Amino acid sequence: MAAFGTVFMPKMALATYENQAWANASIVPSDKLELHPGAHVLHYSSTCFEGLKAFKHEDGSVNVFRMDANIERMAQSTDLLFLPSIDKQQLGDMIKEIVALYADEVPAPPGSMYIRPTHIGTEPSIGKAAVSSETSLLYVLLSPVGDYFAGGVKPLRLLLEENGMRCAPHMGMIKSGGNYASALGPIARAKNECQADQVLFCPNGDVQETGAANFILIDGNEIITKGLDSSFLHGITRDSILTIARDLGMTVTERDFTVNELIERAQKPGTEAALSGTAAVLTPVGTLIHNGEEITVGSGEPGATTLKLRQALNDIQWGKAEDKFGWLH
Ligand code: COI
Repeated sequence: MAAFGTVFMPKMALATYENQAWANASIVPSDKLELHPGAHVLHYSSTCFEGLKAFKHEDGSVNVFRMDANIERMAQSTDLLFLPSIDKQQLGDMIKEIVALYADEVPAPPGSMYIRPTHIGTEPSIGKAAVSSETSLLYVLLSPVGDYFAGGVKPLRLLLEENGMRCAPHMGMIKSGGNYASALGPIARAKNECQADQVLFCPNGDVQETGAANFILIDGNEIITKGLDSSFLHGITRDSILTIARDLGMTVTERDFTVNELIERAQKPGTEAALSGTAAVLTPVGTLIHNGEEITVGSGEPGATTLKLRQALNDIQWGKAEDKFGWLH
């Protein structure tokens, strides 16, 4: 299969905001956008996006996972970036229309259709460095995907980064391109210097998240993960995994924890760690790299609880288990 996110459906849904109003959305070719080179987004990064997936069930139906939660988060990112507020109903209709158009192209499990709503400030004004864009474009791209991490559930290697941070602390909860751009340098260095798959950002020892997904630690029957604050992305997959874990009788503890605590717990047999995200699903972490030392997490192999939680999530997404939380649309 092609690399994750490199194949697109030829059309997308698109709506424009001008003169203080959203125009009706339309279906347009997805291979180009006409933008003024002075567009606000190209200079001042007024952009946010979402990542959600549609799944094909055995009965042929196509089901979008947690669409409402993703639309809520996009509305929040939009407002925090002072882009024109989105019309949530309109975005929901755009997602449904474009997914319905390509229902036949949604890959069967283990694949899915990745849905990428994107909102950009388009006003041609390089003078507006400190003022928001009065015009914008909202579009929904589709990309049929398989695994995000090559190797599927092969345990990842994470470099613990205590000096840098993923993004500005008040911006972390915004799903914005700038946050991903600011993590690129540390991730590239981690890949080159210690063959790490990802960087786990832990500024001043505070364990936060990686460049592409949230981080959870599993110690026996307990999941420990950072509590929601503005410094990191409020993952919808994170929320889904925690909800499933509680439902399975696990204890979920959302609190700050340090690199020292992480390393101490990771070395106990039976401890597991994993990354959660729409793209990552729930991918096990096998090794932590800290100050040049390699620490094996538990046995270093994919943990039983990680695999159980991943399967429980997939079963709901693929229609093999009851949608008891009402997550499918
Ligand atoms: C997602 O998981 O949906 C993301 O947006 C992360 C990205 C690196 C693919």
